Amino acid sequence: MKSLKNLFKNNQEWAKKIKKEDPAFFKNLSNQQAPEYLWIGCSDSRVPANQIVNLAPGEVFVHRNIANVVVHTDLNCLSVIQFAVDILKVKHIIVCGHYGCGGIKAAMEKTKSGHKTKKVCLIDNWLGHIEDVARFNKEELKELRGKQRYDRMCELNVIEQVKNVCNTSIVNKAWNDGADLTIHGWIYDIHNGILKDLETGINTSKKRKD
Ligand code: CO
Repeated sequence: MKSLKNLFKNNQEWAKKIKKEDPAFFKNLSNQQAPEYLWIGCSDSRVPANQIVNLAPGEVFVHRNIANVVVHTDLNCLSVIQFAVDILKVKHIIVCGHYGCGGIKAAMEKTKSGHKTKKVCLIDNWLGHIEDVARFNKEELKELRGKQRYDRMCELNVIEQVKNVCNTSIVNKAWNDGADLTIHGWIYDIHNGILKDLETGINTSKKRKD
């Protein structure tokens, strides 16, 4: 069996480096985690949450899936949100999409002709959620072609998933209870490493004014 020795070697070097910089780092971290942020992002290997925002272990609670989708009935994602909000009391939930997302591309290719093609494998069911985003935004997307359309779909997906986070019973309850909780929609550009705030975010105070 291949034991991926290189990864264990990397790990030892990494732990040594951290301990050298801060000898109490792991001891402090093992006592508790108190992150301020929940990151909901894409599983894409080019979009690692901590590294992009330069945060150390312990600073961001993370959920990732293909195309950063928040589905109302996804117990995995909902459990992460609940733990983050109710137990960890995070102050920010960040839904972060990225340009060049393969999940978005696959969903767009399926609907290019304007007709849903047959679902032939498991992931097609998941991508159905992205097809919904395209349907909800049909009018805007009608005007766009090629890269512009692809980029906009990546953004619209984030905007939609922010709405889904806001509509969860967990976030609703937290807001009703007066929690200081803001939901953000961001997009990451894999071509230059830069994050952009889509400014679709909602925070408690805005919610109260509505
Ligand atoms: Co992606």
